[in-house]
Amino acid sequence: MRHLLDTESLSLENAIQILDTAQEMSAVGEREIKKLPALRGRTVVNLFFEDSTRTRISFEAAAKRLSADVINFSAKGSSVSKGESLKDTAQTLEAMSADAVVIRHWASGAPAQLANSGWIDAAVINAGDGTHAHPTQALLDAFTMRAHWSKIQGTASVGADLAGMRVLIVGDVLHSRVARSNVWLLRTLGAHVTLVAPPTLLPVGVEHWPCEVSYDLDAALETGVDAVMMLRVQAERMNASFFPSTREYARRWGFDDARLAKLDALNLKDTIIMHPGPMNRGLEISSAAADSPRSTVLAQVRNGVSVRMAALYLLLSGEMRETPAQLAVPSTLPSVKDPS
Ligand code: CP
Repeated sequence: MRHLLDTESLSLENAIQILDTAQEMSAVGEREIKKLPALRGRTVVNLFFEDSTRTRISFEAAAKRLSADVINFSAKGSSVSKGESLKDTAQTLEAMSADAVVIRHWASGAPAQLANSGWIDAAVINAGDGTHAHPTQALLDAFTMRAHWSKIQGTASVGADLAGMRVLIVGDVLHSRVARSNVWLLRTLGAHVTLVAPPTLLPVGVEHWPCEVSYDLDAALETGVDAVMMLRVQAERMNASFFPSTREYARRWGFDDARLAKLDALNLKDTIIMHPGPMNRGLEISSAAADSPRSTVLAQVRNGVSVRMAALYLLLSGEMRETPAQLAVPSTLPSVKDPS
């Protein structure tokens, strides 16, 4: 495997390899000197055509912890504003000896185009493209869930997969590359996923995804759940009104203080609350939920560095195993609950 473009085509073997390597990398973050010489002399280019805080900074930290040279490119303030194309931009950066290009782009498919066009020889890592995929976010989410799942199952070491774990992904699924990447990766790792969203914020064709769908967050919580992943309402991608008001959205699909208390009332003492960030506090998640002991928001950010170290290391060292791409066929028939 030369590139990391999505999780739909990521095999179980490669996913486990990245997660296990990230586990080893996380030990480096505990040391006083947080550095390995593994990628000394290699160059990683961070090519960001869209805003980012967590992903851009953690890729930079990951590359530096592996002793790589890092070039940060942001479309704002570059010759992109003069009309320079993706091809010319990428080739310009490769002429500066890039070994890996980490790309975030507003257009779904831009990383795949870069990887498959022959424009550049560097390994390509998708850091989020349009509404399509955000594979390293899904991997860091899975890493976070794996640590939690092993703990609540009482196993001493982190388990291989997430078989049996019940995960709700809640909110603006329509615009969310995080949701798409999580659904595919969690299916591969054996978790059971339910999407919970207003009907207007579910994409066409969701019935073919390997998950269930519900419109009722309270009912979904009552079925029992190990992790609730709240999605950001992506107002910047909305060109129409998808729900009556922010107040109505928060009441029906937000993880508010009442739902935080509901987890206790349902005796779901080990359920974690996740969010990829950035958060709209008071809309999809209340401050009490975001800051509660159940929240893994900051752990997800920390784990992002380890997962991105693992991805960079495996791709640039050539140690990523070659496995046949997984077929994008749902393992179970999807069903829609509560079609009211
Ligand atoms: N979760 C995530 O991708 O955050 P950023 O947009 O800050 O990178």
